Amino acid sequence: MATTSPPLIDTHPDLYIGLMSGTSLDGVDAALVDFSQVSPNLLATHWLPYPDDLKTALLALHEPGPNELDLSSRLANQLAELYAEATHAVLAHAGASHTTVRAIGCHGQTVRHQPARGYTIQINNAARLAELTGITSVADFRSRDIAAGGQGAPLVPAFHAHCFGDPNEHRVIVNIGGISNLTDLPSNGGPGGGQVRGWDCGPGNLLMDAWTRRCFGCDYDAGGAIAARGHIDAALLSRMLAHPFLSSPPPKSTGREDFSLDWLLALVQETSLSEDVLATLTEFTARGIADAIKQHCPGTQAVYLCGGGAHNQTLVTHLAALFPATRVEPTDRLGIAVDWVEAAAFAWLAKHTLEGKSGNLPAVTGARGERILGAIYPA
Ligand SMILES: Nc1ncnc2c1ncn2[C@@H]1O[C@H](COP(=O)(O)OP(=O)(O)O)[C@@H](O)[C@H]1O
Ligand SMILES: [Mg+2]
Repeated sequence: MATTSPPLIDTHPDLYIGLMSGTSLDGVDAALVDFSQVSPNLLATHWLPYPDDLKTALLALHEPGPNELDLSSRLANQLAELYAEATHAVLAHAGASHTTVRAIGCHGQTVRHQPARGYTIQINNAARLAELTGITSVADFRSRDIAAGGQGAPLVPAFHAHCFGDPNEHRVIVNIGGISNLTDLPSNGGPGGGQVRGWDCGPGNLLMDAWTRRCFGCDYDAGGAIAARGHIDAALLSRMLAHPFLSSPPPKSTGREDFSLDWLLALVQETSLSEDVLATLTEFTARGIADAIKQHCPGTQAVYLCGGGAHNQTLVTHLAALFPATRVEPTDRLGIAVDWVEAAAFAWLAKHTLEGKSGNLPAVTGARGERILGAIYPA
């Protein structure tokens, strides 16, 4: 007699790799993610720091200079090799073969972001990445949104909504990378719910990093320890807060073009103590985020932080002080550690591209409509 078996549960993993290299120019975040269940499952992660000479060359490429095309192509090749190395490392950590991965979603390294002029440039050689890894690679996620009239950024809010939306709690997710971007998830804004919004709200780590490098000779203010020794200079803070980007209405996006060391140097007085400038920059970064939430996301019940800035304890303390009645916590509490949210988001965006689904949210970027993002380089 034939027996009836229970319906087969699809236990096949749905594996993607996300590679994120953000404005901070610190390196490549790699995450191997299984999307076969409702919540993404991060199987392995790896961080590969940029060599100092690459960081310096990339920083220089942000400014106009001689022989840019050649330089940018050579740096793109070097990046593709690092992206491949990060891919191999994450596969090794998981004991997985490249053949099990459907695609890599690779953000590339932004060197120009000019949506008003109709372009953004994330350098990468995705053809080389596909060749080096044997894995289909999806790249250049932002250009299509800009072609459709959007800012091309931020692109992570759709992923934030997918993972972190809650029908009963109004949450704001703040990613503190080089630039800070936030996602507003009203309590009915979870998957299939109401309006999700998001935008770049101002600087993240990039000004603090630039000042720390210039005055203290290290890449960043670990734990915010140097800023904790300084005092906030109220006059300098108010000059910083007058930056027009902060008061301009969303949708909006920004980059190193708007918040440069030159901009900062023009505001700082020579007599200022370096620690005090860093303390003020840390408060400025917190204010940029907090003011945006207070102005545009009334009723927020919880703020969740991710990105490297979530490790800056002084910044987190300043932010929490600006929200005395609201919980401020890392996204670890929601199941994804602060360092891997963006990499996981680009793995998820690659999945959308491969499946022919849109990845942008027009309410976030200002695009004319939903678009399938990215260019596919088959394995
Ligand atoms: N322990 C730490 N203390 C303070 N800041 C940190 C720490 N770890 C990382 N960061 C900050 O996070 C940045 C990297 O953040 P990340 O999310 O990778 O940004 P991006 O996406 O722009 O690359 C570093 O440049 C540094 O400013
Ligand atoms: Mg980074």
